[in-house]
Amino acid sequence: MFSDRVVSGMRPTGLLHLGHYHGVLKNWVSLQDQHDCFFFAADWHALTTHYENPIDIQDNVFQMMIDWLACGVDPSKSVLFVQSRVPEHAELHLLLSMITPLGWLERMPTYKDQQDNMKEKDLSTYGFLGYPLLQAADVLIYRASLVPVGEDQVPHIEFTREIARRFNHMYGREPGFEDRAREAIRKIGNKKGKLYEQLRNRYQEQGDEEALESARALLLEQQNLSIGDRERLFGYLEGGGKMILSEPQSLLTAESRMPGLDGRKMSKSYGNTIFLREDIESVTDKIRRMPTDPARVRRNDPGNPDICPVFHLHQIYTSKPIHEWVCEGCTKGSIGCLDCKQPLIDAILEEQAPIRERAQGYLDEPLLVRGIISDGCDKARDLALETIRDVRDAMGLNYGATI
Ligand code: TRP
Ligand code: SF4
Repeated sequence: MFSDRVVSGMRPTGLLHLGHYHGVLKNWVSLQDQHDCFFFAADWHALTTHYENPIDIQDNVFQMMIDWLACGVDPSKSVLFVQSRVPEHAELHLLLSMITPLGWLERMPTYKDQQDNMKEKDLSTYGFLGYPLLQAADVLIYRASLVPVGEDQVPHIEFTREIARRFNHMYGREPGFEDRAREAIRKIGNKKGKLYEQLRNRYQEQGDEEALESARALLLEQQNLSIGDRERLFGYLEGGGKMILSEPQSLLTAESRMPGLDGRKMSKSYGNTIFLREDIESVTDKIRRMPTDPARVRRNDPGNPDICPVFHLHQIYTSKPIHEWVCEGCTKGSIGCLDCKQPLIDAILEEQAPIRERAQGYLDEPLLVRGIISDGCDKARDLALETIRDVRDAMGLNYGATI
C-alpha cells in the first residue's frame, strides 16, 4: 500500500500572519503525520504578479520557511523546497502548454477576478494567464494525489485534472497497449483479475462510477504490481492508454475565515493582520486599539458582541465560559472593552510564544535553515526527474544516449 502524496505551495509574500496559521499551516502540520508531504515556496507564482519588484522574493522565501518550521512543519516528515530550484516544474509547464487550449485559461475564474482586484498592475501578461498551468505542473510533476487548498483554488485543481486527462489521452497510447494491459491483469491473479474486468465493464458499459472507484481501490491494494503495470491498468479502466500523469484531488481546507483586526478577513492587503512573530507590545497595542461596537461610547453603554470584531476573534481563541462572560458583560454594559480584550490578548500571546521561540532558534542558525531547504530541493528534484523523463518519452523527446 503506498500512502497518498500531498503537494501544496504558498506564495512568498512576506511574514506570515495568524490567518496563515489557522487557515493553512495547522492543516499541513497534521497532514504530515498521515501522508508523504511536499511543501514549497511558489516563487515563480509570486513573480506572475510581482514581476516589477522582485528584490524581496528571496528574503520572503527564507522568512516564510522559518515561519513554517516555527509552526511545526517538520523537515524530518515533510519535504520543504523552493519551486524555482526544481526547474523541471518549468519544463513540464512548457510541455503542457503545447496541449493547453487558451480558452481553458481565459475562462478560469481567478483570471478575471485577480485582474480586477489588482487594477494598479498590468496583468495582461503571458505569465499571469499561465498561472494555473504552472500550478498544474507543480502538482503533476510529483504525481500527487491530494492537494490541500482553499476554496478559491479548487478550480485550479479541477483544471489540473483536465490537463492530466488530456495528456494521458493524447500520449498514453503505447504500442501494444491492449496486450500489455491484459498481461498485467493476469499478474494480479485469476480471481482479482476477473473482478477487475467486471468492474471495468460496469464502468465502461453503464458509466458506474462506484465500479470505477472499487477497481481503483483494488489496484492500489496489489503489492505485486509494478508501477508501470499499475498505471497501465488505471488507464485501461477508462479506456484510454497508460496513465502517465495522475489526477489529483483537492483537499479542501476546513473553512476557517480568520477575522482580522477590523472584522474583515485577515489579509496583508487590508493591513489588518497580526504577524506570527509579532512582538508582545505590538500585539497588545493592536488589540487594544481594535474597533469595537460603536454604540459603546461609555463603559456602561450596552453593546452587541455579534457585530464586534473583538468578539469574532474571541470565538477562535477563547473558551465558551469566556464567551458567556463577554456576552453578558457587553450587553449589560458591566465590563469595559479593555477588560473584554485582555483574555484575548493573553490567548494570542500564549499561542505565539512557542512559535516565536522556535522561529528565533532558526533565525540564529541560518545555515541550518539553508540546509533544510537545500535537502528538500534535492529530494523534490529526484522525484520530478522521474516524471519528466516519462513525459519527455511520451512526447517524443527521448534522445537516450544519442546526443
Ligand atoms: N496558487 C496557490 C495560491 O495562491 C499557490 C500554489 C502554487 C499552489 N502552486 C501550487 C497550491 C500547487 C497548491 C499546489 O494559494
Ligand atoms: Fe466588543 Fe467586548 Fe467591547 Fe462588547 S465588550 S463591544 S464584545 S470589545
